[in-house]
Amino acid sequence: MRNLLSITDFSVSEIDELIAVAEDIIKNPEAYQEKCKHKKLATLFFEPSTRTRLSFESAMLSLGGNVLGFSDANSSSSSKGESVADTIRVVSCYSDIIAMRHPKEGAPLVASMHSSVPIINAGDGGHNHPTQTLADLLTIKTEKGRLDNITVGFCGDLKFGRTVHSLIQALARYKGIKIVLISPKELAIPDYVKVDVMDKNNMCYEETRSLEEVMPKLDVLYMTRVQKERFFNEDDYIRLKDSYILTLDKLDNAKKDLSILHPLPRVNEISVDIDSDPRACYFKQVANGRYMRMALILKLLGIK
Ligand code: NCD
Repeated sequence: MRNLLSITDFSVSEIDELIAVAEDIIKNPEAYQEKCKHKKLATLFFEPSTRTRLSFESAMLSLGGNVLGFSDANSSSSSKGESVADTIRVVSCYSDIIAMRHPKEGAPLVASMHSSVPIINAGDGGHNHPTQTLADLLTIKTEKGRLDNITVGFCGDLKFGRTVHSLIQALARYKGIKIVLISPKELAIPDYVKVDVMDKNNMCYEETRSLEEVMPKLDVLYMTRVQKERFFNEDDYIRLKDSYILTLDKLDNAKKDLSILHPLPRVNEISVDIDSDPRACYFKQVANGRYMRMALILKLLGIK
């Protein structure tokens, strides 16, 4: 039985296959509408979510399956003190596959040790978010026509932004990737990503505070929200929350075919004026996330 806990649980060729299935679903959705008939997806969200949970549910419904779950830890028995292990033992009696989001890093790994059905990590604390990465990869592939030889700038909260960590892990396996890390020092990428991912894979990367300076060289700009809920100290959040606000004038020296991504939710780090610019890809990313989750559910359930 396979799980998706980290994006590196899948080989590059398995990710290529998922992208190919998602592209086929986009062309030919009717062929998939009964693939998961009589299958049940449980969504266990111990942390807030709009896109990820609804996108999983929409994906399963589009495959003809059913969904059950909770969207608030307070409405589950975890509020009575139940452990993740026990919750998962129970929910795996009710469902064929589980997508889970949890504030604690590693909770989906613990879940996978106690589950009789596949576990999908839908975000664990400030650690990983592999299904957002699937959406990001399909978006980059569609916009750029390739996943190698690109310069990707990550801007904002690189410390707590789990989508950043997972996407860097994924990109580490493609050739000719250059990473530009744009953040204040306090929100810099964690050392484990630097050492265990970027250094280990001999990735080419630089760190800077200035988005303006590096803008001309970027093919992809991945903006992120400052992750308020992960701060220990509100003053630090207030000081750092507006570190970067992307406005149209800041795109003057950007490449004409720059692709701007954001996992969403956006707070104010991208001005709404940019939404109608052809370089804005963040709502396309949302649509792509659903297709990739459909492909992922099929893969983990072993359905061709
Ligand atoms: C992200 C997350 O939950 O990590 N959202 C998402 O799933 N698309 C990003 C965020 O919350 O800032």
